[in-house]
Amino acid sequence: MPRTIPLQPVGAAPRARAVMPAGPATLTSLPPLSVYVHVPWCVRKCPYCDFNSHAAAEMPERAYLDALRADLEQSLPSIWGRQVVSVFLGGGTPSLLSAAGLDELLAMLRACLNLLPDAEITMEANPGTAEAQRFRDYAGSGVTRFSLGIQSFDDAQLGRLGRIHDAAQARAGIEMAQRAVSRVNLDLMFALPGQTLEACLADVRQALSFGTEHLSMYHLTLEPNTVFAKYPPEGLPDDDVGAAMQDAVEAELAAAGLQRYEVSAYARQGARCRHNLNYWEFGDYLGLGPGAHGKLSFHDRIVREARARQPESWMERAGRRDGSHIAEQRVVGADELPFEFMLNALRLKDGVAAGLFAERTGLSLAAIAHQLEAATAKGLLDADPTRLRATALGWRFLNDLQEMFLSGE
Ligand SMILES: C[S@@+](CC[C@H](N)C(=O)[O-])C[C@H]1O[C@@H](n2cnc3c(N)ncnc32)[C@H](O)[C@@H]1O
Ligand code: SF4
Repeated sequence: MPRTIPLQPVGAAPRARAVMPAGPATLTSLPPLSVYVHVPWCVRKCPYCDFNSHAAAEMPERAYLDALRADLEQSLPSIWGRQVVSVFLGGGTPSLLSAAGLDELLAMLRACLNLLPDAEITMEANPGTAEAQRFRDYAGSGVTRFSLGIQSFDDAQLGRLGRIHDAAQARAGIEMAQRAVSRVNLDLMFALPGQTLEACLADVRQALSFGTEHLSMYHLTLEPNTVFAKYPPEGLPDDDVGAAMQDAVEAELAAAGLQRYEVSAYARQGARCRHNLNYWEFGDYLGLGPGAHGKLSFHDRIVREARARQPESWMERAGRRDGSHIAEQRVVGADELPFEFMLNALRLKDGVAAGLFAERTGLSLAAIAHQLEAATAKGLLDADPTRLRATALGWRFLNDLQEMFLSGE
């Protein structure tokens, strides 16, 4: 996570602000559409995790799949006729689904949606739930990519993180996943309690030893309302050590051919996650399942929605088929769009083509001319007018740069 320190204003008086239309956007074309499906159960709740995930001895698979079908069918009018470029099954622990359950889920998506034949279909999996045959079955049903929550290859760290697997199971899980599909991401966390820079790099090297094409590297954060927030683990590395780890990880991975292309994501050539790229390029996504968020564009507006968060409540409400499983639905105002767009686009190291701003928000770049000028003058934004991209300084102080696009700034 980039550190935030206040930036000094550069002195020049701000120019008159462009007037932002208050109403919703007008889009000439709709962006690519992805689908996110949330599976909210885990074997055990990890003490650092604030995802919408709930410990359960067994997931209520039948009730879940029925509710998912109801959720999907009620969503169809919002995405009628549109092609779906990617699917992401996230959690929680989607690998708690049985092979038959996952097969039914993907068949349901294929029957109801216009899923492109080469759509990327990612499934998150926990190595503590890995079984070779089940991974092969998932792939046979259409999963093209696994994302494994490894976190570390150090047994002591895995114990402190409350993981349900040890390092040997993590290694076995990677091999099973790689035998089943050609595309596998590994999640690692760093800045762990008592972790040295050498130990952090040892985890990265071990991940690379599997010929990994994609790595997600997350700085451990103490999220509110987690066990770690209440009882912080001892020996957490300070900010300087965390920053040194980040730099060393980036150099180690670059030397191995994995480029950092987003704040937390590293990939070999051609191995970037298409689903996540669609989020960062401000594409559309339908979010199904408890707590799932969605963003859907129409020619005259952009809508954000969120499903009921509690699994039981979402299942019960989706089954009523009266729309009550959607806890929140609102049109994004034109004044919010610049920040929302930049929040995503500037996470990408190469940024995005400048033309994408108008294409995705329906607003002219002229509407944010003064913010662009101010960010460029501060050395945070690349001066190249054909791209919207953070400079090395802007990347380091990303929060400050993104906040410059808040309305009223
Ligand atoms: C939904 S989980 C991945 C799949 C599966 N639930 C698992 O943990 O194996 C997404 C990833 O977010 C990361 N993560 C979760 N909480 C975090 C935190 N507090 N700080 C840093 N990374 C975190 C972990 O690397 C985790 O693998
Ligand atoms: S297994 Fe993953 S989603 Fe579940 S509690 Fe742990 S980190 Fe969170």
